[in-house]
Amino acid sequence: MNPHSTFPINIAIDGPAGAGKSTVARLVADRMRYIYVDTGAMYRAVTYIALRQGLSPDDSKRIGELAERLDIVLLPDDEGQRVLADGEDITSQIRSLEVNRNVSRVSAIEAVRLRMADLQRQMAKSKGVVMDGRDIGTHVLPDAELKVFLTASPRERAIRRYREMGEAPLVTLDQLEHEISERDRMDREREFAPLVQALDARYIDSTGRSIEEVVDEIVEWGLKASRTISAGEK
Ligand code: DC
Repeated sequence: MNPHSTFPINIAIDGPAGAGKSTVARLVADRMRYIYVDTGAMYRAVTYIALRQGLSPDDSKRIGELAERLDIVLLPDDEGQRVLADGEDITSQIRSLEVNRNVSRVSAIEAVRLRMADLQRQMAKSKGVVMDGRDIGTHVLPDAELKVFLTASPRERAIRRYREMGEAPLVTLDQLEHEISERDRMDREREFAPLVQALDARYIDSTGRSIEEVVDEIVEWGLKASRTISAGEK
């Protein structure tokens, strides 16, 4: 018997850049046999295409129009998910430094957020989704049955990103920490759907904790929420 075949729920995992959300969300989705949706990848896709078209990240009108007509598809695969924009696979391009540096500005554009939230709600309609981002529990899926706010200290987040960069990082650890803090500030201070913890979200500080520990905790909460709902349905 599938131990997880209780009532499928939606799980929202929000938090700042580099807190480990995508790794944790992917593992939680695997364990629950749910679908993982990386919403940051969607904002990155819009940013990458906008930059490639030569648009300024502050040109909200044209970037808003681009987001409205861009077809973004997330395809689950062994390494997480592939990102397609109008059928083109841009999975690796969306992780560039150039995209990192501009994505907060693009994701502050209201029309971009409205369109992404719309796509994200469609993806979560049938439940059984683990979605990570900044505004999932507060704005995109305010009715998600489990909400988690996952964070870690800026230094720890910088160290994790630094390690991901391999043997010849193009930036120093201090620069990375500065960029991460700056991105947090912009995500928190933007006018529309800023990064804040939902009142009913469970808070996890992963500084000094292992990924497995954090995943176990979230899966336990998820199974409990799902059992409570299925008991209520009977
Ligand atoms: O999680 P990430 O670093 O891939 O996210 C990239 C950017 O997208 C980040 O600066 C904030 C933004 N973002 C957002 O505003 N809302 C989301 N739901 C997800 C990401």
